Amino acid sequence: LTCHVTLDPAFRIGTVNPRLFGSFVEHMGRCVYGGIFEPGHEEADADGLRQDVLKLSRELGVTVIRYPGGNFVSGYRWEDGVGPVEQRPRRLDLAWRSVETNAFGFNEFMTWARRAEVEPMMAVNLGTRGIQEACDLLEYANHPGGTYWSDLRVSHGVAEPYGIKLWCLGNEMDGPWQVGHKSADAYGALAAETAKAMRQVDPSVQLVACGSSNDRMPTFGSWEATILDHTFDYVDYISLHAYFEKAGEDRASFLASGLAMDRFIEGVVATADHVAAKKRSRRKLMLSFDEWNIWYESRFAGHTNLEWAQAPRLIEDEYTTEDAVVVGSLMMSLLRHADRVGVACLAQLVNIIAPIRAEPDRPAWRQTIFYPFALTARHARGEVLRVEPITSTYDTARHGDVPVADVVATHDAENGYVTIFAVNRSETETVLLEAALRALPGMRIIEHLVLGGVPGELLHSNSADAPERVAPRAGNGAAIDGSHLLTAPLPPASWTMLRLA
Ligand code: AHR
Repeated sequence: LTCHVTLDPAFRIGTVNPRLFGSFVEHMGRCVYGGIFEPGHEEADADGLRQDVLKLSRELGVTVIRYPGGNFVSGYRWEDGVGPVEQRPRRLDLAWRSVETNAFGFNEFMTWARRAEVEPMMAVNLGTRGIQEACDLLEYANHPGGTYWSDLRVSHGVAEPYGIKLWCLGNEMDGPWQVGHKSADAYGALAAETAKAMRQVDPSVQLVACGSSNDRMPTFGSWEATILDHTFDYVDYISLHAYFEKAGEDRASFLASGLAMDRFIEGVVATADHVAAKKRSRRKLMLSFDEWNIWYESRFAGHTNLEWAQAPRLIEDEYTTEDAVVVGSLMMSLLRHADRVGVACLAQLVNIIAPIRAEPDRPAWRQTIFYPFALTARHARGEVLRVEPITSTYDTARHGDVPVADVVATHDAENGYVTIFAVNRSETETVLLEAALRALPGMRIIEHLVLGGVPGELLHSNSADAPERVAPRAGNGAAIDGSHLLTAPLPPASWTMLRLA
């Protein structure tokens, strides 16, 4: 089997936006409490922030963190989480049937975000609350001073406004499970009015309207069309969420999840452009894929009537090598749509379906999916090239006919680097990658890393006792010949990164 591509800097999709490498911290399970924040832990600093988690977050290369939810935000009163900690109320969090102590809130998050060197992406509650509370939070966060909410922030020890740019107008408002779930018309009208009012408080904000919770929702497509009828002129992004999992033993379909992500993105782009056409607008609305990952939701399905608990262990999925291969391919899908996807957030950052795991009695460790994310975040730079892979296809139960291999490449002209990401979805055959580099003469291979490719290791994972069992290994057999043709064997069921300089 072969996969042929041509790399030519003249053919580009778009610039790699650093915001594609975002993640997500929700008040859910042990993401905040016992994740980024754990006073008393031997790794915690004086503010209770775990230094081991901070260190791994920086190593992961995350650029944006969405906060504080997720489903949680739709019942959240942000004021509960600011001011003297001892006066903060304990509340029921209806989304996850948890007890929220509010020991960690907005200013603690902003301190964490500064130390993690990430851009905050705040979500406002449009479930149980509305325009006023969203504007109050924005005034507290971004207004310099001399007003009730901005002076309250100053009295809480934060003299300078934060200047937060990215704001989500609610979360998954199409979902019947959402506290304060709304019809498309009701949400669209509320989101439009909230957006207009928020821009009066701070005209520099960039706003995200809620798209569908996933593309299997019965309202997918019509939800986007309706809410954009209301909000198109007032928002900067529409959101997408998607979680993938292997159904039973169907690895063939699972390895092709990137194709499902491509189709989802292209469906939302088509809908946004349809609304633009109706409005006689030439604006290409950008997409915010602000929740994506692998999540074995089928394993969680039975846990609906949870006992009330504080920071319970929820959906702490342990990822395998094959999950890492799929995460690598999902990142390739995001890169391929760099012209329309402007923000993306791996959900979530720590413990909850996360690349980082933390326990009370040991240092944090990297899950398998940490590696493709970190490598892509570090090395996908410059322009995404239009490479047009030519390869054979195979049949899958879920996605129909699927190309056996996929390739994405980025070109950092300024620093002289090319990075090729490739996935081989065949479970049994090696695919020979052939990349024509005539338009990029003189390149040498400087790094070749592979995840997966060894059948017996596809279900291996990292754990507290074996934190480094799975990691990328050096690939071999790659070469560039005299006619500028790069060849590299892609092992079965693997993800590969090749760096050229
Ligand atoms: O990330 C877990 C949950 O998944 C989020 O709270 C919600 O937005 C989504 O359904």
